[in-house]
Amino acid sequence: MTETEGVFIQPRRRINGDITVPGDKSISHRAALFGGMAHGRTHITNFLPGQDCLSTLNCLKELGVRWERRETEVWIEGQGLENWNEPQEVLNVGNSGTTLRLMLGVLAGSPFTSTFTGDSSIRKRPMRRVTGPLAQMGAKILGRQEGNFAPLTLQGGNLQGDFFQTPVASAQVKSAILLAGLRARGVTTVLEPALSRDHTERMLRGFGVNVLSEENQVKITGASMLSAQDVSVPGDISSAAFFLVLGSLIKKGELLIRNVGVNPTRTGILEVLLKMGADIQVENCTEICGEPRADLRVRPAELHGIEIGGGIIPRLIDEIPIIAVAASLADGETVIRDASELRVKESDRIKTVVEGLQTLGADLEELPDGMRIKGANKLLGGRVNSHDDHRLAMAWTIAGLLSENGVSLDGIEAAYVSFPGFLPLIKQMT
Ligand code: S3P
Repeated sequence: MTETEGVFIQPRRRINGDITVPGDKSISHRAALFGGMAHGRTHITNFLPGQDCLSTLNCLKELGVRWERRETEVWIEGQGLENWNEPQEVLNVGNSGTTLRLMLGVLAGSPFTSTFTGDSSIRKRPMRRVTGPLAQMGAKILGRQEGNFAPLTLQGGNLQGDFFQTPVASAQVKSAILLAGLRARGVTTVLEPALSRDHTERMLRGFGVNVLSEENQVKITGASMLSAQDVSVPGDISSAAFFLVLGSLIKKGELLIRNVGVNPTRTGILEVLLKMGADIQVENCTEICGEPRADLRVRPAELHGIEIGGGIIPRLIDEIPIIAVAASLADGETVIRDASELRVKESDRIKTVVEGLQTLGADLEELPDGMRIKGANKLLGGRVNSHDDHRLAMAWTIAGLLSENGVSLDGIEAAYVSFPGFLPLIKQMT
């Protein structure tokens, strides 16, 4: 673990705010990547300047793509993927699984060698789910445990399209295969056990690619070119989730979170909180660049425990740490199942979430694929660590605001991976 900063989060009884959250992480990565692959100038607004998306921009630079960024605006001079250069340096993806998995897919069809590495968390995350299908299409990939762990070296080249039935619903796996399929001979098809977030499919269509989706299956035809697009990125519902829980469980106040992406493959958090009894209004729905967005108004409510599992899990997978905080403060039992993917996220989020909440006084236990939480209407507080995991850093901050005695948090800086300005935003709320 890197050296961590300690902060004390004071409990609050009232909170009001009219806020926006930073741009969506998944959409920002894809906008940068597709802009670099396309022909022409792509202009991105409300790009997320978090460390993860900056890793994607930095990798693009190593590959010869020219871009300029001013805060949340990015201009990319796309010269077409066929004009990317063999990188002279190892490509460092930092903490970003999306950068690594999507880049592997894109470069699987490039006739040169690239080597990827990242931080200590990324070097432990399973990559065979991507390197296996890419090798089956014709790429050569070397890495520890038969290409399962970074550092990974990829020799791209002649790819052949294929049919893949993925064992897990993962948008990173689906996207890596589809992006490789763009340069493969013939058709590439991905069939998922449940539909994962579909930003790749939506945005590729915006860049002029013919993508055929039917239920959990997507098809793409090789030799497709991308033409530059302007992309306006909606606010990240995964970041808004922290404020949806805060606004629901605080004693008094009201929060309005504007311009949040409400793509149905991401709105599991809204469904779960509403089922728990939350008071959330979805206002001003629009669709821009193929992605729906809305303002979310949240008021305090009494929450009760529910069962969460099955097909909704991929639609809220990143929100489980903050859902667990909400469940600890709800009335009655919450059981989360079918979420063993949490074990291979930025930390083992079943273990780190359960241990952290136990330290704060909650009554919960680990299950192999989730957790069982006995809601107690209150959290005492205590000292917890983010384990360098951005979603834990933010979940523990919200837990501190809602606790009886406050939370001492080590490693708050991890939040900047997906939410620069998280703590200052909270401090400015009245
Ligand atoms: C992401 C997909 C999800 C998610 C991650 C971002 C993406 O991961 O957890 O934060 O942008 O495609 P998996 O594909 O591993 O489920």
